[in-house]
Amino acid sequence: MFYDQHNVCFYSFPSQMNDDWPGYSLDLFSYPAHYSGDLDCVFIPHGVIMDRTERLARSIMDDLGDHDIVVLCVLKGGYQFCADLVEGIKALSRNSDRTIPMRVHFIRLKSYLNDQSTEDLHILGAEDLSFLAGKNVLIVEAIVGTGKTMKTLLKHVEAFRPKMIKVAGLLVKRVPNNAACLPDYVGFEIPDRFVVGYALDYNEYFRDLNHICVISESGKMKYKI
Ligand code: HPA
Ligand code: MG
Repeated sequence: MFYDQHNVCFYSFPSQMNDDWPGYSLDLFSYPAHYSGDLDCVFIPHGVIMDRTERLARSIMDDLGDHDIVVLCVLKGGYQFCADLVEGIKALSRNSDRTIPMRVHFIRLKSYLNDQSTEDLHILGAEDLSFLAGKNVLIVEAIVGTGKTMKTLLKHVEAFRPKMIKVAGLLVKRVPNNAACLPDYVGFEIPDRFVVGYALDYNEYFRDLNHICVISESGKMKYKI
């Protein structure tokens, strides 16, 4: 940890963020004015997300780049990470002789109300995934908590007999009892806090925020349903 001349505290930025990571002051970045008062801090700035995603794209290509890839994007929260990750993979393909065809398919999971997980998980758009047979499948999720959701999804996808299945998760949350299942590619490991932005929502709000931020108590009240 170090301080700049304005006494702003900087931590070196590990991809594994400690429980005491305070985030960055909102004053250091710009964000939509309609969310002023609704956020506590910038937890992961947009630029850092982009840089980390570029690096994950490289690891993914190293592992999966020998065969057709089907990307399974888990909506809604995963759309931005998936789009940026696919861009990263496309950029690598453009700049090498090793290019592979890639399909993108979307499925939707829903299990959250307010900031709480509910027991029942709905998978939409995953009824017939027979086109996954023999393919390299990359499941792309924004956030993995207990890993229960991912485990259910993996079981569902395995039944369609892909050649290989890998999971990319932008965020892994350190929650009690996690590690039921961890992604193969992790963007950031974060403490158990409710975060929004970069397509992650709180009751459908905050998807239009580029940084990953911590929502404030007043923000939670304002958008509660
Ligand atoms: N933010 C938004 N959606 C989520 C989160 C979170 O922290 N955890 C699980 N779904
Ligand atoms: Mg949500």
